[in-house]
Amino acid sequence: MNDIRERIIEPLKGEIDKIKNIQEFQVLKSKYVGKKGEISKLMKEIGKIEPEKRKEFGAFVNNLKKEAEAILEEGLEKVKQHLKEMEEKKSWVDITLPGAKRKIGYEHILKQTIRDVYEIFSSMGYKIVEGPEIETTWHNFDALNTPEWHPARDMQDTFYIEGKDNIILRTHTSPVQVRTMLNTEPPLAIISPGRVYRKDEPDATHSPAFNQFEGLYIDKNVTVGHLKATLEQFLTMYFGGSRKVLLRPSYFPFVEPGYEVDVDCMFCGGKGCNVCKGTGWIEILGAGLVHPNVLKNVGYDPEKWQGFAFGTGIERIAMLKYGISDMREFYRNDMRFLGL
Ligand code: PHE
Repeated sequence: MNDIRERIIEPLKGEIDKIKNIQEFQVLKSKYVGKKGEISKLMKEIGKIEPEKRKEFGAFVNNLKKEAEAILEEGLEKVKQHLKEMEEKKSWVDITLPGAKRKIGYEHILKQTIRDVYEIFSSMGYKIVEGPEIETTWHNFDALNTPEWHPARDMQDTFYIEGKDNIILRTHTSPVQVRTMLNTEPPLAIISPGRVYRKDEPDATHSPAFNQFEGLYIDKNVTVGHLKATLEQFLTMYFGGSRKVLLRPSYFPFVEPGYEVDVDCMFCGGKGCNVCKGTGWIEILGAGLVHPNVLKNVGYDPEKWQGFAFGTGIERIAMLKYGISDMREFYRNDMRFLGL
């Protein structure tokens, strides 16, 4: 009987260790303890056994069945445990992993540039002020010593508000000089960024709406030397390196003397390249000493107070700093540009 037991139990033990799922278990179960299984076959033998050995054999088969069932039971538990572990592994989440990053976008380059200008001039003690985009012709032109005949007053350049001949969209940030001086006692130092409007066809370097910033410094004994040093300091901090400026005499009605201000080319260091068109200099600002007539128009005594003013395009300085060749990119929504 021992070898009968071995013939059944040993292979069962071997097979039960190999099963991987419930289906395989079922197959194994019916092979051993099912109706047509090995042990049922033995049961059918009982009748054929000599009567005196029948009882003993019956007990043996019963025990064998119990033993096989116990092994199967244990095997089933193992399979279930294994399946559970697999399931857990599959749905396991590492809660210590960092979360999915959400793209939050970038500050627009023009805003970044305005902030850079703020920071540089704040560090030099300048205050930030703002003025309206819809202006009177008096603030935009007359108070700034811009006579009626000046070409800038021509309808070609200026957007007039319909039905009004004295309300316009400001053509530069210079009227903020006037507004500031009218409500502030000198001395003063201000910077004023903002949008300005001109009747220009949009192209790579023109836009009917663009941004400028204005600077105004009023004190006693102010000279062109102060203006030059201030602009050199600003351009050095903004573009990096150590920048030099070149003042070229020019005409703006509200300054005397007036200058076009060039900066030494930050691309070639002044040697000459295609950005500076071989000259080593890049035109960057308009500036000058505040015209005595402007001081008079706001009620300042030009014998007592002097000052300098300067203005430039925000787009212009950003294009140079970031190597942008088409101004229109600032107003389009190309994600690659916005992700700069
Ligand atoms: N307002 C002038 C312009 O728009 C620039 C400027 C400002 C010139 C201040 C001199 C002084 O071109």
